[in-house]
Amino acid sequence: VGGRLIRVTPEELAKHNTPEDCWMAINGAVYNISHYCEFHPGGIAEIMKGAGKDGTRLFNEVHRWVNYDSMLKKCLVGKLVTESIFKS
Ligand code: HEM
Repeated sequence: VGGRLIRVTPEELAKHNTPEDCWMAINGAVYNISHYCEFHPGGIAEIMKGAGKDGTRLFNEVHRWVNYDSMLKKCLVGKLVTESIFKS
């Protein structure tokens, strides 16, 4: 229980961009939605538009009222980091 959360760079996020291995960032939180994709009411093609990316804008454009955080609690991978750790 309570797996460790990691810091995810955009580069790492981008590697997970297929329906079988799909991560998405929403409001700074990164989720592994691989098991959710096939149940998405909007279809796989739609949700894949945000695959391996920061899907916040798309998500909010379509359904900002959807409580993704409670739906995807168990799919949380970590936190999206945008600044390089090598920069001051
Ligand atoms: C519909 C969840 C990401 C596009 C829905 C609905 C849920 C949902 C619960 C049904 C909403 C309702 O009927 O009121 C999620 C979750 C996402 C996600 C948890 C993130 C992990 C996305 C993304 C897109 C998208 C990135 C890209 C455009 C749509 C569309 C519908 C929809 C177009 C409407 C389907 C319809 O009305 O027939 N989604 N979604 N979703 N979603 Fe998502």
